[in-house]
Amino acid sequence: MTANSSVSTASTALPQDLEQGRMPAHVAVIMDGNGRWAKRRGLPRIMGHRKGVDTLKKLLRCCRDWGVGALTAYAFSTENWGRPTHEVDFLMTLFERVLRQEIKEMMAEDVRIQFVGNLAALPDTLQREIDRAVTMTQANQGIRFSVATNYGGRQEILQACRAIATQVQQGHLQPEDIDESLFSRHLYTANISDPDLLIRTSGEMRISNFLLWQLAYSEFYITDTLWPDFDTDEFHQAMKAFQKRDRRFGKVNDSEET
Ligand code: IPE
Ligand code: IPE
Ligand code: MG
Repeated sequence: MTANSSVSTASTALPQDLEQGRMPAHVAVIMDGNGRWAKRRGLPRIMGHRKGVDTLKKLLRCCRDWGVGALTAYAFSTENWGRPTHEVDFLMTLFERVLRQEIKEMMAEDVRIQFVGNLAALPDTLQREIDRAVTMTQANQGIRFSVATNYGGRQEILQACRAIATQVQQGHLQPEDIDESLFSRHLYTANISDPDLLIRTSGEMRISNFLLWQLAYSEFYITDTLWPDFDTDEFHQAMKAFQKRDRRFGKVNDSEET
């Protein structure tokens, strides 16, 4: 399959073993393992990235159908510039092409797309496609779909610090005004709640500079499945695992108080 291949738009009902009231409001995903998926098939790494686009499209639809309000996907990290030039170039072109191709369906499906990361460093043609998609979908009321592109958690925190420091320097803000809420409003993710669940595919047990601030109390779900193979059944498993979690946020459960 390629990035052009069509994906069914028919909506899927929430599986009976999932509780609607306990669905995560915001799911974040580190889409990892595209290269290994391709390598196992004797294909070039870029074929894994192409297949990965289909996986993301299906996941977005599934999240929408099952009542997940926001999906954030890690598409390109600030460290991914260190990959071979042809792979980086392929990814930038792929992002651009997919955005151009998918905008119609995103409108039809009421998706609000936004991008988090240092977008100014992306190729101009991609920046234009991003601006267009964000502007076109900004009044949509459906799922909020954030794509982390040239995103780095440390870099995001630093740019927030610089912006806040400038306001203090100019006398618009006092150091004691800086609290968690103000800080969060200076992050790329200012308009979305912190993720309830982080999914990482391909078995790596690390954050890789993703949403360092926002993941403070997220549940983690790591699967060995490679991203191109992460289908609706796999997401169903992740949801089942999430619904069994006991989120204590540092407190003690009522039943354990004595
Ligand atoms: C994730 O898959 C996609 C991006 C980082 C763009 P990888 O390309 O990291 O695949 P592996 O980890 O090498 O298998
Ligand atoms: C994280 O995957 C970045 C994205 C999925 C975009 P990487 O493959 O870049 O992470 P590492 O190198 O395994 O930590
Ligand atoms: Mg990887």
